[in-house]
Amino acid sequence: MKIIFEETRPDHLTALLQIYNVYTGASYSTLYETQLTLEQFRNLVFFNNLKYKSFSILNDNEIIGFVVLAKYKNNAAYDSTAEVAIYLHPNFRNKGIGKKALAFIEEYAKQKNIHSIIATISSKNIVSLKLFESSGYKKCAHFFEVAKKNNMYLDIINYQKIL
Ligand SMILES: CC(C)(COP(=O)(O)OP(=O)(O)OC[C@H]1O[C@@H](n2cnc3c(N)ncnc32)[C@H](O)[C@@H]1OP(=O)(O)O)[C@@H](O)C(=O)NCCC(=O)NCCS
Repeated sequence: MKIIFEETRPDHLTALLQIYNVYTGASYSTLYETQLTLEQFRNLVFFNNLKYKSFSILNDNEIIGFVVLAKYKNNAAYDSTAEVAIYLHPNFRNKGIGKKALAFIEEYAKQKNIHSIIATISSKNIVSLKLFESSGYKKCAHFFEVAKKNNMYLDIINYQKIL
């Protein structure tokens, strides 16, 4: 395996959307219940911003996932905080790539003077909780039954790392 990260380009979108849509519906990886369109997905990965960006993850030239560094809140006071999310093709999970992507995006965030990174995770997404815990993130919030997916209330947990 040769994993590289490339800033996400418009011609990556279709492959990335296919990966993301694996997790809409029944999984706890995203709260969307139905498949996203390309236009909806575009807004999740392109921010027209010099700091907040997405990077596609490639293995031997094949797109296998992406990592997003997004704005945390729409208020300049929060400009040194960012939110992270990672999505991998199911065939490439549990091989250490999530940890690699997190380390990559932390280095990128430091270069952009981001001070604090936050992850927002469903309490049922056990692997994602594991990823952030094992990468040195601390649990900083637990919201009970604040989200609803497929008619079920979900707890949402935040993990944070000060860079
Ligand atoms: C969550 C996700 C990004 C994690 O990436 P990954 O490459 O699968 O995880 P890694 O192989 O880097 O492992 C990270 C940690 O989780 C553990 N882990 C991975 N898969 C696991 C599994 N199926 N069961 C239990 N633990 C698991 C690893 O052992 C590792 O912990 P360690 O360092 O203490 O050994 C990836 O699984 C994924 O894309 N999931 C679907 C989308 C999603 O939920 N994204 C999160 C939104 S924030």
